[in-house]
Amino acid sequence: MTRTVYVNGEYLPEGDAKISIFDRGFLMADAVYEVTSVLGGKLIDFQGHAVRLKRSLDELEMAAPCTKEELLAIHRKLVEVNEIDEGLVYLQVTRGSDGDRDFVFPSDDTPPSIVLFTQAKPGLADSPAAKKGAKIISIEDIRWGRRDIKTVQLLYPSMGKMMAKKAGCDDAWLVEDGHVTEGTSNNAYFVKDGVIVTRPLSNDILHGITRKAVLRMAAEAQLKIEERLFTIEEAQGADEAFTTSASAFVMPVVEIDGVALGDGAPGPIAKRLREIYLDESLKAAI
Ligand code: PDD
Repeated sequence: MTRTVYVNGEYLPEGDAKISIFDRGFLMADAVYEVTSVLGGKLIDFQGHAVRLKRSLDELEMAAPCTKEELLAIHRKLVEVNEIDEGLVYLQVTRGSDGDRDFVFPSDDTPPSIVLFTQAKPGLADSPAAKKGAKIISIEDIRWGRRDIKTVQLLYPSMGKMMAKKAGCDDAWLVEDGHVTEGTSNNAYFVKDGVIVTRPLSNDILHGITRKAVLRMAAEAQLKIEERLFTIEEAQGADEAFTTSASAFVMPVVEIDGVALGDGAPGPIAKRLREIYLDESLKAAI
C-alpha cells in the first residue's frame, strides 16, 4: 500500500511529495521534528509533543506552520488513511526556502515547510526487543550544546547506533565530562536499591515526553527517583537500567560496555514501568 503523506497543506501519495532542494531543512539541518507513537489507532501524548514542538520552534525563532488543532487533525487523518494501528507519526518543520542557499536566515515572511508521514510498526507494544533487553555501548557525546531543541541534526546519533551495531550491541549512551547525558534517541536511567536515577533536565539532553510521563507514573507508584548526574561505572554496578522514548516506550537495558546488569535479563522495575506506561498511555490516547 502506498502511504499518503502530508506536505505543505496537501495530502499526497508518498512518491508525489516534493520539497525544494533549497529548503533549509535539507541544506542546513535548519529544522525541528517530533515523533508521536500510535497505539490502537490513537495518538500517545499528542499534547506533550505539540507543546515541545512549539518550544523548539520558539527557541530557533521559527514560525509555526499551523495551529495545534490543525496539527492534531493532520495526525489523525494520516493515521486513518494509512490504517495505522501500531506505529509512529513523524513530523518535521523547516525554516523553508527563499530559493537559494545562504547562511543568513531568509526573511520573516518565508513560509516554513511542514512534512508528516506515518510508519506502521506492528508489534510495537508487545516488542520482542523489550523482552530481550538492550545491550549498550558508551561513546563520547560530541553533539552541539542545545540538545533540548529537537533538531534534525541526527548524524552523530546515527553514527552512534552504527558503532553499537558494529560492536554487536543495540544502542549507545553518550558521555560528556564523565557523565551520561542520554541515549542516541532516548533518555537513560539506572535503578539501584529501588531508586531510579536519571540526569536532570538542562540544555544537555532532550526533555523527553516519555521521560516526563514515566517519572510521573513512577512517583505515583511510590518509586523513589533521583535526578542527578551519573557515570557509566555507576550504571554498570546497578541492579537494572532502561531507556525511554516515544518509539520504544520503556526499553530495559541488560548490558553496558560488556558488563551484564543484575542477572542479565530485563529488570522488574523496567518491566513494571513499561506495563504501567503502556496501560496508562493507551487509556489517555486520543
Ligand atoms: N527520539 N533523547 C533523544 C536524543 C531523542 O532523540 C529522543 C527521542 C529522546 C526521547 O524523547 P521522547 O520521549 O519525547 O521520544 C531523548 C525520537 C523517538 C526519534 O528520534 O526517533
